[in-house]
Amino acid sequence: MLLPKHLVGLKDLNRQQIEFVLDVAQGMEPIAQGWQRSDLLKGTILATLFFEPSTRTRLSFETAMLRLGGGVISVADALRTSSAWKGESLADTIRTVDSYADIIAIRHATSGAAGEAASHSRVPVLNAGDGTNEHPTQGLLDLLTIRRALGRLDGLSVVMVGDLKHTRSINSLAYGLSNFDVRVTFVSPKGFEPAQPILDRMAERERSCRVTTDLREAVRDAEVIYVCRIQKERLEHAEDAERLKGSYLVDMALLRDARREPIVMHHLPRVGELAEDVDTYPGACYFKQPWNGVLTRMALLAILLGRVLR
Ligand code: NCD
Repeated sequence: MLLPKHLVGLKDLNRQQIEFVLDVAQGMEPIAQGWQRSDLLKGTILATLFFEPSTRTRLSFETAMLRLGGGVISVADALRTSSAWKGESLADTIRTVDSYADIIAIRHATSGAAGEAASHSRVPVLNAGDGTNEHPTQGLLDLLTIRRALGRLDGLSVVMVGDLKHTRSINSLAYGLSNFDVRVTFVSPKGFEPAQPILDRMAERERSCRVTTDLREAVRDAEVIYVCRIQKERLEHAEDAERLKGSYLVDMALLRDARREPIVMHHLPRVGELAEDVDTYPGACYFKQPWNGVLTRMALLAILLGRVLR
């Protein structure tokens, strides 16, 4: 099999593996649209085990499974409604759930939790976001969105703006993009720069990469602008959330200075850093991302369950 048993991060996926997932995802379009019925995953069960809130990730995993004819069991608020509330360890929860499901998607507040879950699971584990570490299915759907919008992943100038220190989707997207010939500009308020391993990866792969606080200058040459929210639940000092509010804003006034008609992306939810006046801008892609999330998760479920071979 071309992919590892578990999808814990994009750090260790290579270009060939990423392109394989994106190709399979694109092929899922007629089934996701409902034009074509599929029983590809009939008889298999996905468990979504979410220890943190979610709208898009959990629901799109479940939609993906249902579109492919499989079944779903779900814990949406595992800290309160599973035995975690009684003090059960993650390892024991996983050793139990792997008797109920053929594949598990897990979201957890602790960095490294998905890797830990994978180490205790007999069935494939998909990381649906672990602390400030990674969110690989988001990274892949973001790569798919860029490839569909711009027709390629090589030769692009990408700006990522926001709380890059705490945003796990940025880590996954950056690791994924590091396999391609990209120029990346990280724009963040002081103290919210990307983690050092992300910068190290860009250097190792000899990708042009810079860190700045100047958003206006960065967007001028951008082809992709990826906006992130302040991850207030992950800040070391809660008062920083108020201080940072309004410290960056992507709106039409800013985009008018861009020379290359960039696409605009956001992992969502947006909470003030991406103005609604961008919604009618032709390059706005942030409501295409959730759609591509369904395709990507369909592909990953099918691949990790061994139903798509190459
Ligand atoms: C993100 C997450 O939970 O990591 N949301 C998502 O999955 N699209 C980002 C966020 O909550 O800000």
